[in-house]
Amino acid sequence: MSAGRHFLQIPGPSNVPDRILRAMDYPTMDHRGPAFADVGRKVLDGMKSIFKTESRVVIYPSSGTGAWEAALVNTLSPGDTVLMYETGHFATLWKALAEKLGLNPVFISSDWRSGADPQAIESRLLEDKTHEIKAVCVVHNETSTGAVTPVDKVRKAIDAAGHPALLMVDTISSLASVDYRHDEWGVDVTVSGSQKGLMLPPGLSFNAISEKAIRAEETAGLKRSYWSWKEMEGPNEKGYFPYTPATNLLYGLSEAIDMLHEEGLDNVFARHKRHGEATRTAVQTWGLEVLCKVPEHRSPVLTAVMMPEGHSADNFRSVALQHYDMSLGNGLSKVADRVFRIGHLGDFNDLMLCGTLSGVEMGLRDAGVPCTQGGVQAAMDVLGGKFRSAKAAA
Ligand SMILES: Cc1ncc(COP(=O)(O)O)c(C=O)c1O
Repeated sequence: MSAGRHFLQIPGPSNVPDRILRAMDYPTMDHRGPAFADVGRKVLDGMKSIFKTESRVVIYPSSGTGAWEAALVNTLSPGDTVLMYETGHFATLWKALAEKLGLNPVFISSDWRSGADPQAIESRLLEDKTHEIKAVCVVHNETSTGAVTPVDKVRKAIDAAGHPALLMVDTISSLASVDYRHDEWGVDVTVSGSQKGLMLPPGLSFNAISEKAIRAEETAGLKRSYWSWKEMEGPNEKGYFPYTPATNLLYGLSEAIDMLHEEGLDNVFARHKRHGEATRTAVQTWGLEVLCKVPEHRSPVLTAVMMPEGHSADNFRSVALQHYDMSLGNGLSKVADRVFRIGHLGDFNDLMLCGTLSGVEMGLRDAGVPCTQGGVQAAMDVLGGKFRSAKAAA
Protein backbone atom coordinates (compact mmCIF):
# COMPACT_ATOMS: atom_id res chain seq x y z
CA MET A 1 0.00 0.00 0.00
CA SER A 2 1.50 3.37 -1.01
CA ALA A 3 1.02 6.65 0.82
CA GLY A 4 -0.86 9.46 -0.93
CA ARG A 5 -3.48 9.15 -3.62
CA HIS A 6 -3.25 6.57 -6.36
CA PHE A 7 -3.04 8.18 -9.82
CA LEU A 8 -5.88 6.66 -11.83
CA GLN A 9 -4.91 7.85 -15.30
CA ILE A 10 -6.71 5.31 -17.46
CA PRO A 11 -9.20 6.82 -19.92
CA GLY A 12 -12.11 5.92 -17.68
CA PRO A 13 -13.36 5.05 -15.20
CA SER A 14 -12.06 8.49 -14.25
CA ASN A 15 -11.41 9.96 -10.81
CA VAL A 16 -14.58 10.55 -8.81
CA PRO A 17 -14.45 13.95 -7.07
CA ASP A 18 -15.06 14.09 -3.30
CA ARG A 19 -18.16 16.20 -3.90
CA ILE A 20 -19.77 13.38 -5.89
CA LEU A 21 -18.62 10.71 -3.41
CA ARG A 22 -20.30 12.72 -0.64
CA ALA A 23 -23.49 13.16 -2.65
CA MET A 24 -23.72 9.36 -3.07
CA ASP A 25 -22.99 8.80 0.63
CA TYR A 26 -26.64 9.32 1.53
CA PRO A 27 -29.30 6.82 2.60
CA THR A 28 -30.90 4.94 -0.27
CA MET A 29 -34.51 6.10 -0.53
CA ASP A 30 -37.77 4.47 -1.57
CA HIS A 31 -37.56 4.61 -5.36
CA ARG A 32 -41.38 4.60 -5.52
CA GLY A 33 -41.82 7.21 -2.78
CA PRO A 34 -42.57 10.94 -3.24
CA ALA A 35 -39.03 12.24 -2.53
CA PHE A 36 -37.54 10.12 -5.31
CA ALA A 37 -39.52 11.85 -8.06
CA ASP A 38 -37.52 15.06 -7.48
CA VAL A 39 -34.24 13.19 -8.00
CA GLY A 40 -35.59 11.36 -11.04
CA ARG A 41 -36.92 14.50 -12.72
CA LYS A 42 -33.77 16.47 -11.97
CA VAL A 43 -31.43 13.91 -13.58
CA LEU A 44 -33.69 13.11 -16.55
CA ASP A 45 -34.05 16.83 -17.33
CA GLY A 46 -30.50 17.71 -16.40
CA MET A 47 -29.04 15.13 -18.78
CA LYS A 48 -30.85 16.83 -21.66
CA SER A 49 -28.71 19.90 -21.06
CA ILE A 50 -25.55 17.75 -21.15
CA PHE A 51 -26.54 16.01 -24.41
CA LYS A 52 -27.88 19.36 -25.72
CA THR A 53 -31.25 17.95 -26.63
CA GLU A 54 -34.85 19.01 -26.17
CA SER A 55 -35.95 15.43 -26.82
CA ARG A 56 -35.82 12.42 -24.45
CA VAL A 57 -33.01 10.89 -22.41
CA VAL A 58 -33.26 7.34 -21.06
CA ILE A 59 -31.10 6.26 -18.10
CA TYR A 60 -30.22 2.60 -17.50
CA PRO A 61 -28.58 0.94 -14.50
CA SER A 62 -25.92 -0.68 -16.69
CA SER A 63 -22.48 -0.22 -18.17
CA GLY A 64 -22.13 1.47 -21.57
CA THR A 65 -22.48 -1.83 -23.43
CA GLY A 66 -26.12 -1.96 -22.34
CA ALA A 67 -26.78 1.44 -23.90
CA TRP A 68 -25.15 0.23 -27.16
CA GLU A 69 -27.58 -2.68 -27.21
CA ALA A 70 -30.54 -0.45 -26.29
CA ALA A 71 -29.80 1.91 -29.22
CA LEU A 72 -29.96 -0.99 -31.69
CA VAL A 73 -32.83 -3.09 -30.30
CA ASN A 74 -35.20 -0.13 -29.96
CA THR A 75 -34.83 1.03 -33.55
CA LEU A 76 -33.93 -1.90 -35.83
CA SER A 77 -35.28 -5.24 -37.08
CA PRO A 78 -33.55 -8.61 -37.57
CA GLY A 79 -31.40 -8.62 -40.72
CA ASP A 80 -31.24 -4.81 -41.01
CA THR A 81 -28.04 -3.46 -42.49
CA VAL A 82 -26.08 -0.96 -40.39
CA LEU A 83 -23.04 1.01 -41.56
CA MET A 84 -20.30 1.03 -38.92
CA TYR A 85 -16.76 2.41 -39.01
CA GLU A 86 -13.71 0.65 -37.62
CA THR A 87 -12.14 3.47 -35.63
CA GLY A 88 -10.72 1.00 -33.09
CA HIS A 89 -11.47 -1.60 -30.43
CA PHE A 90 -14.76 -0.12 -29.22
CA ALA A 91 -16.21 0.36 -32.70
CA THR A 92 -15.27 -3.30 -33.34
CA LEU A 93 -17.06 -4.42 -30.17
CA TRP A 94 -20.21 -2.49 -31.12
CA LYS A 95 -20.13 -4.17 -34.53
CA ALA A 96 -19.77 -7.61 -32.89
CA LEU A 97 -22.75 -6.81 -30.68
CA ALA A 98 -24.81 -5.85 -33.76
CA GLU A 99 -23.90 -9.19 -35.36
CA LYS A 100 -24.96 -11.11 -32.25
CA LEU A 101 -28.32 -9.35 -32.37
CA GLY A 102 -28.89 -10.61 -35.93
CA LEU A 103 -28.13 -7.34 -37.70
CA ASN A 104 -25.98 -7.11 -40.81
CA PRO A 105 -23.14 -4.65 -40.17
CA VAL A 106 -21.17 -3.26 -43.11
CA PHE A 107 -17.84 -2.30 -41.59
CA ILE A 108 -15.65 0.41 -43.16
CA SER A 109 -12.14 -0.69 -42.18
CA SER A 110 -9.34 1.61 -41.09
CA ASP A 111 -5.86 1.52 -39.57
CA TRP A 112 -7.02 2.76 -36.11
CA ARG A 113 -5.05 6.00 -36.59
CA SER A 114 -7.87 8.50 -37.16
CA GLY A 115 -11.56 9.14 -36.51
CA ALA A 116 -14.19 8.11 -39.06
CA ASP A 117 -13.90 9.71 -42.50
CA PRO A 118 -17.22 11.39 -43.44
CA GLN A 119 -16.30 11.16 -47.13
CA ALA A 120 -16.02 7.36 -46.93
CA ILE A 121 -19.42 7.22 -45.22
CA GLU A 122 -20.97 9.43 -47.91
CA SER A 123 -19.53 7.27 -50.72
CA ARG A 124 -20.88 4.08 -49.13
CA LEU A 125 -24.33 5.64 -48.66
CA LEU A 126 -24.40 6.86 -52.27
CA GLU A 127 -23.90 3.25 -53.42
CA ASP A 128 -26.93 2.20 -51.37
CA LYS A 129 -29.59 3.21 -53.90
CA THR A 130 -32.32 1.07 -52.32
CA HIS A 131 -31.69 2.37 -48.82
CA GLU A 132 -30.86 -1.02 -47.30
CA ILE A 133 -28.73 0.73 -44.67
CA LYS A 134 -30.97 1.61 -41.74
CA ALA A 135 -28.41 3.23 -39.44
CA VAL A 136 -24.93 4.76 -39.49
CA CYS A 137 -23.07 4.10 -36.21
CA VAL A 138 -19.89 5.91 -35.20
CA VAL A 139 -17.84 6.26 -32.03
CA HIS A 140 -17.28 9.95 -31.22
CA ASN A 141 -14.16 9.48 -29.09
CA GLU A 142 -12.52 6.10 -29.79
CA THR A 143 -11.10 5.31 -26.36
CA SER A 144 -8.72 2.63 -27.65
CA THR A 145 -6.87 5.03 -29.96
CA GLY A 146 -7.56 8.61 -28.84
CA ALA A 147 -9.23 9.70 -32.09
CA VAL A 148 -12.32 11.89 -32.40
CA THR A 149 -14.81 11.56 -35.25
CA PRO A 150 -16.28 14.85 -36.54
CA VAL A 151 -19.94 13.99 -35.94
CA ASP A 152 -21.24 17.23 -37.50
CA LYS A 153 -19.47 16.27 -40.74
CA VAL A 154 -20.89 12.73 -40.61
CA ARG A 155 -24.36 14.30 -40.38
CA LYS A 156 -23.55 16.48 -43.42
CA ALA A 157 -22.31 13.42 -45.32
CA ILE A 158 -25.58 11.56 -44.67
CA ASP A 159 -27.57 14.62 -45.80
CA ALA A 160 -25.37 15.12 -48.87
CA ALA A 161 -26.05 11.50 -49.87
CA GLY A 162 -29.79 12.15 -49.37
CA HIS A 163 -29.92 9.01 -47.25
CA PRO A 164 -32.65 8.35 -44.63
CA ALA A 165 -30.50 6.18 -42.27
CA LEU A 166 -30.58 6.92 -38.56
CA LEU A 167 -27.39 8.37 -37.09
CA MET A 168 -26.20 6.70 -33.86
CA VAL A 169 -23.19 7.99 -31.93
CA ASP A 170 -21.27 6.44 -29.04
CA THR A 171 -20.18 9.27 -26.69
CA ILE A 172 -19.23 6.96 -23.83
CA SER A 173 -15.82 8.60 -23.45
CA SER A 174 -16.60 12.05 -24.87
CA LEU A 175 -19.79 13.28 -23.23
CA ALA A 176 -19.07 16.19 -20.86
CA SER A 177 -15.44 16.34 -22.05
CA VAL A 178 -15.64 17.09 -25.79
CA ASP A 179 -18.13 19.49 -27.44
CA TYR A 180 -21.24 17.50 -28.36
CA ARG A 181 -24.64 18.64 -29.69
CA HIS A 182 -27.28 15.91 -30.09
CA ASP A 183 -30.01 18.13 -31.60
CA GLU A 184 -27.90 20.54 -33.63
CA TRP A 185 -25.96 17.71 -35.26
CA GLY A 186 -29.11 15.76 -36.03
CA VAL A 187 -28.12 12.65 -34.09
CA ASP A 188 -30.90 10.09 -33.62
CA VAL A 189 -29.48 8.02 -30.78
CA THR A 190 -26.58 9.11 -28.60
CA VAL A 191 -25.14 6.42 -26.35
CA SER A 192 -23.19 7.29 -23.21
CA GLY A 193 -21.98 6.10 -19.81
CA SER A 194 -21.36 7.50 -16.33
CA GLN A 195 -17.73 6.61 -15.68
CA LYS A 196 -15.79 9.08 -17.80
CA GLY A 197 -16.65 12.76 -18.39
CA LEU A 198 -19.54 12.59 -15.95
CA MET A 199 -17.01 11.76 -13.19
CA LEU A 200 -19.18 9.01 -11.66
CA PRO A 201 -18.34 5.40 -10.91
CA PRO A 202 -19.36 2.88 -13.61
CA GLY A 203 -22.99 1.75 -13.50
CA LEU A 204 -25.20 4.19 -15.39
CA SER A 205 -25.70 4.39 -19.14
CA PHE A 206 -27.76 6.62 -21.39
CA ASN A 207 -29.61 6.92 -24.67
CA ALA A 208 -30.56 10.39 -25.92
CA ILE A 209 -33.21 9.84 -28.58
CA SER A 210 -34.61 11.97 -31.39
CA GLU A 211 -38.23 12.09 -32.57
CA LYS A 212 -37.15 10.09 -35.63
CA ALA A 213 -35.67 7.37 -33.40
CA ILE A 214 -38.88 7.29 -31.36
CA ARG A 215 -40.83 6.77 -34.60
CA ALA A 216 -38.43 3.97 -35.60
CA GLU A 217 -39.26 2.26 -32.30
CA GLU A 218 -42.86 1.76 -33.49
CA THR A 219 -41.78 -0.62 -36.26
CA ALA A 220 -38.51 -2.02 -34.85
CA GLY A 221 -38.71 -5.81 -34.84
CA LEU A 222 -35.78 -6.76 -32.59
CA LYS A 223 -36.89 -8.27 -29.28
CA ARG A 224 -36.49 -6.10 -26.19
CA SER A 225 -37.76 -5.93 -22.67
CA TYR A 226 -35.27 -4.53 -20.13
CA TRP A 227 -33.95 -2.03 -22.71
CA SER A 228 -37.36 -0.91 -24.01
CA TRP A 229 -37.67 2.88 -24.29
CA LYS A 230 -41.45 2.52 -24.25
CA GLU A 231 -41.43 0.80 -20.86
CA MET A 232 -39.42 3.76 -19.50
CA GLU A 233 -41.62 6.47 -20.91
CA GLY A 234 -44.64 6.46 -18.55
CA PRO A 235 -42.70 6.15 -15.25
CA ASN A 236 -40.01 8.63 -16.44
CA GLU A 237 -42.63 11.31 -17.10
CA LYS A 238 -43.35 11.31 -13.35
CA GLY A 239 -39.67 11.01 -12.32
CA TYR A 240 -39.74 7.23 -11.79
CA PHE A 241 -38.33 4.10 -13.44
CA PRO A 242 -40.04 0.82 -14.42
CA TYR A 243 -37.57 -1.18 -12.30
CA THR A 244 -35.24 -0.44 -9.38
CA PRO A 245 -32.94 2.41 -10.45
CA ALA A 246 -29.33 2.78 -9.26
CA THR A 247 -30.52 5.26 -6.62
CA ASN A 248 -27.20 6.37 -5.16
CA LEU A 249 -25.56 6.73 -8.56
CA LEU A 250 -28.45 9.05 -9.47
CA TYR A 251 -27.65 11.22 -6.42
CA GLY A 252 -24.10 11.39 -7.79
CA LEU A 253 -25.37 12.19 -11.28
CA SER A 254 -27.42 15.08 -9.93
CA GLU A 255 -24.27 16.50 -8.31
CA ALA A 256 -22.22 15.95 -11.49
CA ILE A 257 -24.75 17.90 -13.57
CA ASP A 258 -24.51 20.79 -11.09
CA MET A 259 -20.71 20.72 -11.14
CA LEU A 260 -20.58 20.74 -14.95
CA HIS A 261 -22.92 23.72 -15.15
CA GLU A 262 -21.09 25.60 -12.41
CA GLU A 263 -17.84 25.33 -14.39
CA GLY A 264 -19.71 25.86 -17.68
CA LEU A 265 -19.67 23.20 -20.39
CA ASP A 266 -17.58 25.36 -22.73
CA ASN A 267 -14.96 25.80 -20.00
CA VAL A 268 -14.99 22.05 -19.36
CA PHE A 269 -14.35 21.41 -23.07
CA ALA A 270 -11.58 24.06 -23.20
CA ARG A 271 -9.90 22.53 -20.13
CA HIS A 272 -9.83 19.08 -21.73
CA LYS A 273 -8.52 20.52 -25.01
CA ARG A 274 -5.67 22.29 -23.23
CA HIS A 275 -4.73 19.15 -21.34
CA GLY A 276 -4.72 17.19 -24.60
CA GLU A 277 -2.41 19.77 -26.19
CA ALA A 278 -0.02 19.83 -23.22
CA THR A 279 0.12 16.01 -23.16
CA ARG A 280 0.90 15.79 -26.86
CA THR A 281 3.65 18.39 -26.46
CA ALA A 282 5.20 16.20 -23.76
CA VAL A 283 4.97 13.12 -26.00
CA GLN A 284 6.60 14.97 -28.86
CA THR A 285 9.43 16.16 -26.59
CA TRP A 286 10.03 12.60 -25.40
CA GLY A 287 10.47 11.74 -29.10
CA LEU A 288 7.56 9.30 -29.06
CA GLU A 289 4.66 9.09 -31.51
CA VAL A 290 0.97 9.72 -30.87
CA LEU A 291 -1.16 6.90 -32.34
CA CYS A 292 -3.73 9.24 -33.95
CA LYS A 293 -2.17 10.56 -37.16
CA VAL A 294 -4.71 13.25 -38.03
CA PRO A 295 -3.96 16.38 -35.94
CA GLU A 296 -7.55 17.67 -35.88
CA HIS A 297 -8.84 14.25 -34.73
CA ARG A 298 -6.52 14.04 -31.68
CA SER A 299 -8.50 13.52 -28.52
CA PRO A 300 -8.86 15.98 -25.63
CA VAL A 301 -9.74 12.98 -23.39
CA LEU A 302 -6.80 10.64 -23.76
CA THR A 303 -3.54 10.24 -25.64
CA ALA A 304 -2.45 6.84 -26.97
CA VAL A 305 1.34 6.74 -27.24
CA MET A 306 3.23 4.29 -29.48
CA MET A 307 6.20 2.45 -27.99
CA PRO A 308 9.51 2.40 -29.86
CA GLU A 309 10.12 -0.91 -31.69
CA GLY A 310 11.25 -3.68 -29.36
CA HIS A 311 9.82 -2.13 -26.19
CA SER A 312 6.79 -3.40 -24.32
CA ALA A 313 4.08 -0.93 -23.37
CA ASP A 314 2.78 -3.34 -20.74
CA ASN A 315 6.19 -3.63 -19.10
CA PHE A 316 6.44 0.17 -18.96
CA ARG A 317 2.93 0.42 -17.46
CA SER A 318 3.81 -2.11 -14.82
CA VAL A 319 6.98 -0.14 -13.91
CA ALA A 320 4.93 3.09 -13.65
CA LEU A 321 2.46 1.30 -11.37
CA GLN A 322 5.11 -0.25 -9.15
CA HIS A 323 7.36 2.82 -8.87
CA TYR A 324 4.83 5.68 -8.89
CA ASP A 325 1.47 4.11 -8.03
CA MET A 326 -0.04 5.27 -11.31
CA SER A 327 -2.39 3.25 -13.54
CA LEU A 328 -2.14 3.98 -17.26
CA GLY A 329 -4.41 2.51 -19.95
CA ASN A 330 -3.25 -0.56 -21.86
CA GLY A 331 -3.27 -1.15 -25.60
CA LEU A 332 -6.36 -3.11 -26.64
CA SER A 333 -6.57 -6.01 -29.13
CA LYS A 334 -4.77 -4.90 -32.35
CA VAL A 335 -2.46 -2.53 -30.46
CA ALA A 336 -1.96 -4.66 -27.32
CA ASP A 337 1.48 -4.03 -25.80
CA ARG A 338 2.24 -1.58 -28.63
CA VAL A 339 0.65 1.52 -27.07
CA PHE A 340 -0.13 2.90 -23.64
CA ARG A 341 -2.88 5.41 -23.01
CA ILE A 342 -2.75 8.48 -20.79
CA GLY A 343 -6.21 9.49 -19.54
CA HIS A 344 -6.65 13.26 -19.00
CA LEU A 345 -10.36 13.51 -18.44
CA GLY A 346 -13.07 14.23 -15.93
CA ASP A 347 -12.22 15.79 -12.58
CA PHE A 348 -8.72 16.80 -13.62
CA ASN A 349 -6.55 19.92 -13.38
CA ASP A 350 -3.16 21.31 -14.42
CA LEU A 351 -1.21 19.97 -11.46
CA MET A 352 -2.80 16.52 -11.78
CA LEU A 353 -1.60 16.54 -15.41
CA CYS A 354 1.91 17.61 -14.35
CA GLY A 355 1.98 14.78 -11.80
CA THR A 356 0.75 12.31 -14.41
CA LEU A 357 3.30 13.36 -17.02
CA SER A 358 6.08 13.29 -14.40
CA GLY A 359 5.12 9.70 -13.62
CA VAL A 360 5.21 8.81 -17.32
CA GLU A 361 8.57 10.51 -17.86
CA MET A 362 10.16 8.83 -14.82
CA GLY A 363 8.55 5.50 -15.69
CA LEU A 364 9.91 5.60 -19.26
CA ARG A 365 13.39 6.25 -17.91
CA ASP A 366 13.09 3.48 -15.30
CA ALA A 367 11.82 1.01 -17.90
CA GLY A 368 14.77 1.80 -20.18
CA VAL A 369 12.61 3.19 -22.99
CA PRO A 370 14.76 5.43 -25.22
CA CYS A 371 13.35 8.96 -25.02
CA THR A 372 14.40 12.55 -24.41
CA GLN A 373 13.68 13.99 -20.95
CA GLY A 374 12.03 17.41 -20.68
CA GLY A 375 8.48 16.50 -21.72
CA VAL A 376 7.03 17.67 -18.41
CA GLN A 377 8.77 21.05 -18.76
CA ALA A 378 7.41 21.43 -22.29
CA ALA A 379 3.89 20.60 -21.05
CA MET A 380 4.28 23.12 -18.22
CA ASP A 381 5.15 25.78 -20.79
CA VAL A 382 1.91 25.01 -22.65
CA LEU A 383 -0.15 25.08 -19.44
CA GLY A 384 1.46 28.30 -18.18
CA GLY A 385 0.87 29.99 -21.55
CA LYS A 386 -2.70 30.69 -20.50
CA PHE A 387 -1.52 32.95 -17.66
CA ARG A 388 1.28 34.57 -19.65
CA SER A 389 -1.11 35.61 -22.43
CA ALA A 390 -3.63 36.89 -19.84
CA LYS A 391 -0.83 39.05 -18.31
CA ALA A 392 0.24 40.34 -21.73
CA ALA A 393 -3.35 41.36 -22.47
CA ALA A 394 -3.73 43.20 -19.12
C1 LIG B 1 -16.04 4.44 -26.55
C2 LIG B 1 -16.52 3.32 -25.69
N1 LIG B 1 -17.60 2.61 -26.08
C3 LIG B 1 -18.07 1.59 -25.35
C4 LIG B 1 -17.47 1.21 -24.18
C5 LIG B 1 -18.03 0.06 -23.40
O1 LIG B 1 -18.60 0.54 -22.23
P1 LIG B 1 -18.68 -0.34 -20.89
O2 LIG B 1 -17.33 -0.93 -20.66
O3 LIG B 1 -19.09 0.69 -19.84
O4 LIG B 1 -19.72 -1.35 -21.11
C6 LIG B 1 -16.36 1.90 -23.73
C7 LIG B 1 -15.68 1.52 -22.49
O5 LIG B 1 -14.64 2.01 -22.13
C8 LIG B 1 -15.87 2.98 -24.51
O6 LIG B 1 -14.80 3.69 -24.11
